[in-house]
Amino acid sequence: MARLKVAVLISGRGSNLQALIDACVRRDFPAEIRLVLSNRSDAQGLGRAAQAGIPTQVISHRDHATREEFDVALDAALQAAGVDLVCLAGFMRLLGEAFVERWRDRLLNIHPSLLPAFRGLNTHARALAAGVRFTGCTVHFVRAAVDDGPIIVQAAVPVLPGDDSEALAARVLAAEHRAYPLALRLIAERRIRIGDDGRVEIRGATAAADAVFNPST
Ligand code: GRF
Repeated sequence: MARLKVAVLISGRGSNLQALIDACVRRDFPAEIRLVLSNRSDAQGLGRAAQAGIPTQVISHRDHATREEFDVALDAALQAAGVDLVCLAGFMRLLGEAFVERWRDRLLNIHPSLLPAFRGLNTHARALAAGVRFTGCTVHFVRAAVDDGPIIVQAAVPVLPGDDSEALAARVLAAEHRAYPLALRLIAERRIRIGDDGRVEIRGATAAADAVFNPST
């Protein structure tokens, strides 16, 4: 089966991008990264892509008068690269409804909480303030509302006594680095379907078990 062609959109550090790069270099992995796009020229992740020999492009939101124009430029770059799927990985710009609809069910995001809890920013500080015993991360299809959309993979991590947001973020990030490649693999293997109820169905018993893995075990 042909490998799924993927673009990754970043704004910064790019550690999730790195996890996807590391997965995609495996010859048996069913996806490949064709393009890394950033809205910031100083994004650390651009260096990671260059190191891996992946084409990069910077499209700055500052060069576009409106969000719609920025989105159109992004879309044009993605179309030109001929990608099947777009992975947001720490991409810090909100995408407009037209873009989201155009890439519907071909646009993924990773969020550092167990959605629908703690949408938005500062998830770890908010999880600590709420006193939750577990938090985690979610890979989901993107819908127009922020951090909303059908859930593909989640990983739970415990909140431990003495955690501050940095310690918790590091624990969650390690889970993110496993969850995103897993979600991409499930999609690339064509094992993911969005049911009429809007929920993700995963074909194959082991895949379903994988998708609720607990990285702390
Ligand atoms: C991750 O925590 C991700 O869940 C969130 O932004 C952060 C990006 O980190 N959306 P990195 O750039 O992948 O290291």
